[in-house]
Amino acid sequence: MDFTWEALTDAERAQVYADWEAGKGLIGGDPRQRPGSHLLPSWGIDQPFFRVLALDDTRGGNGAALRSLLTSARPLEIEIGFGRGDFLLDRAQRHPERLFIGYETKIKATRLMLERAEQLRASGRRGDKETGRPGDGETPALHNSQFTIHYSQLTTDSSAPRPSPLAPHDNLWLSDDDARFNLPRVVADGRVEVCHVLFPDPWWKNEHKIRRLFSPPFVDLLAAKLRSGGLLHFKSDVHEYGELVRYLVEQQPDFTPHDPTQAARIGEVAPTHREQWCRRHAKPVWTYYFVRR
Ligand SMILES: C[S@@+](CC[C@H](N)C(=O)[O-])C[C@H]1O[C@@H](n2cnc3c(N)ncnc32)[C@H](O)[C@@H]1O
Repeated sequence: MDFTWEALTDAERAQVYADWEAGKGLIGGDPRQRPGSHLLPSWGIDQPFFRVLALDDTRGGNGAALRSLLTSARPLEIEIGFGRGDFLLDRAQRHPERLFIGYETKIKATRLMLERAEQLRASGRRGDKETGRPGDGETPALHNSQFTIHYSQLTTDSSAPRPSPLAPHDNLWLSDDDARFNLPRVVADGRVEVCHVLFPDPWWKNEHKIRRLFSPPFVDLLAAKLRSGGLLHFKSDVHEYGELVRYLVEQQPDFTPHDPTQAARIGEVAPTHREQWCRRHAKPVWTYYFVRR
């Protein structure tokens, strides 16, 4: 198993960039080659869900709503590979003023997460009715009136697609696209406040290395999307992978070296599923924080 990059020749390094440009190693293949990829799946229509190639699918208000949110001034956090979603769901509730985007290539996990978020919202709506509190029945957990965006702000004219039943305050959006394909095409440069990559697959076998998230072009992508002063928050229970990430990120001149004091910016969190497993089995975890210069 090979976690080093130092040994790469210039030609090999150039090949890594060429493969990236060609979309090689994308989980699930290159969406541009997939029939019907301009359409949302039926279960994703008018949900806080998106696929980059289906942003203009007017059967749903997804694209318009997401674009509107992304042009707002709300700080944006993204998590790549949220898995069961425990960390992200908790974080979106703790910080309702922020916008969150989660990427997870497993469709089942993404659908499950959509359901979990919807259940939280529904329990908030029921709670409002039960307590008879004034308001529009939206869950306080995923809502902060200061940041409520009304339907009128989501569409610009009356000929726009039909009104979306998307909760206008949704602060958590999910995609099952490979983040390496989606992120460059959806999120503007300098837009991201924090990027969380927690326990990414190490892809142990050499022939699967191309699927590994961290590579020089991926680190360039993170540098482009994080704002100056933004944070990359990374965890792994594979020390060699952690050190590879440290090496790759610290080689990128746009990042400062790992700085553990940045943990204060993350604060209290819910552990991911993998982290819970590590705790149960007393396995060490390595955490890294890199600031975008
Ligand atoms: C080892 S799991 C960890 C899940 C979760 N972060 C945790 O700690 O429990 C890594 C997850 O990342 C997802 N993943 C891998 N590559 C991805 C990519 N390029 N874009 C989005 N998700 C990805 C996988 O499907 C998998 O669910």
